[in-house]
Amino acid sequence: MTNDPVRASADFIEQFMVDVFCGLGVPEEDAKVCAEVLICADKLGIDSHGINRCKPIYYDRIKSGILNPVTHFEIVRDSKATAVVDGHNGMGHVVAKRCMQMAIEKAREHGVGCVVARNSTHFGIAGYYALMAAEAGMIGQISTNARPSIAPTFGVENMLGTNPLTFAMPSDEKFPFMIDCATSVCQRGKIELYERMGKDTPAGLVIDRSGKTRTDTSRILADLKSGKAALVPLGGLGDETGGHKGYGYATTVELLSSALQNGNSMKQLSGVKEGKPTPIELGHFFMAIDVQAFIDLEKFKGNVGHVLRELRVSAKAPGRDRIYTAGEKEGIALEERSKNGIPLPGAIVADMKAMRDELGLSQYKVFPWEQR
Ligand SMILES: NC(=O)c1ccc[n+]([C@@H]2O[C@H](COP(=O)([O-])OP(=O)(O)OC[C@H]3O[C@@H](n4cnc5c(N)ncnc54)[C@H](O)[C@@H]3O)[C@@H](O)[C@H]2O)c1
Repeated sequence: MTNDPVRASADFIEQFMVDVFCGLGVPEEDAKVCAEVLICADKLGIDSHGINRCKPIYYDRIKSGILNPVTHFEIVRDSKATAVVDGHNGMGHVVAKRCMQMAIEKAREHGVGCVVARNSTHFGIAGYYALMAAEAGMIGQISTNARPSIAPTFGVENMLGTNPLTFAMPSDEKFPFMIDCATSVCQRGKIELYERMGKDTPAGLVIDRSGKTRTDTSRILADLKSGKAALVPLGGLGDETGGHKGYGYATTVELLSSALQNGNSMKQLSGVKEGKPTPIELGHFFMAIDVQAFIDLEKFKGNVGHVLRELRVSAKAPGRDRIYTAGEKEGIALEERSKNGIPLPGAIVADMKAMRDELGLSQYKVFPWEQR
């Protein structure tokens, strides 16, 4: 018997998620957006934020009544290059995609477009929206706050979200430059992944209230919720290895995601009030910069590609034969997974079966990998 994950095509998994979201009352057009963002993560190899999140983050929250399946997208303030949107606790992917479309349209007209959202919800990978900008020939910068997880430097209390600070830029290479990651050393999704794989969390990523490192994955997840554990900011514990820089960037993201839109921040996003689950109404920040307002797009792409190539051919560390540039691994995963499909570990298949059975999605009685 093997424990290797089964594989399914991205199209199959995407359609499955569309049917799940529709089954939960998400309108079909919106369900397609949610599924498209989630499957984009799986296609790019970002396994912490794809189909694995479908049940715990979206399905369970809609079922428990803390996430609205129907999104009311309200533009509360609008100027030539900027806007403020209220997502009214609707589907974060739907709010975020529309905000990014607005930012791109504004940038096309005015060189720069910036849209912020309040009362939105978890939007998946920030990279999806940054790639929208790169595909439009623009620089994209995306941020969002999230449930409190990161402790400030010299602190032990989980205060800041894992707050991604994400950029994408078009280049003359196959895949754009894209740095898309949390401002903690490790984000929650990766710890959830360790749990699904039955693995300990590596030392140095999580601390308890006494400041000691924690590796006991399942208890970490519970303790992050209750505030007994916290994630370490990018750069590590303390300030000697630069933890204060990650702490500063996580704070910047928290501010960009809350102060401009008069939205919630930090402990207001804990998702629990008087012991009961409550909506986690997040803030997002989307910026698009139209390259053509500065320089010919092809010239810019060549300039970006040149820097990336120079980095990759620079001297390698002993034992290393390759230097990557940000976005490259995602480009490689995209090629491999479009050929071989998306791996689905047993825990994800179990989630898919549970959602199928509860929603009565009889068209999925037999999954493709169960045939023969
Ligand atoms: N919505 C939310 O609340 C939220 C919160 C945190 C993170 N996220 C998402 O989680 C995803 C994963 O975040 P993460 O912090 O685990 O990212 P990560 O640590 O896996 O880093 C990924 C980034 O680093 C680049 N990279 C990886 N190895 C590299 C190498 N050797 N050299 C150069 N670049 C390299 C990748 O191209 C990518 O841009 C992201 O898509 C992020 O948007 C979402």
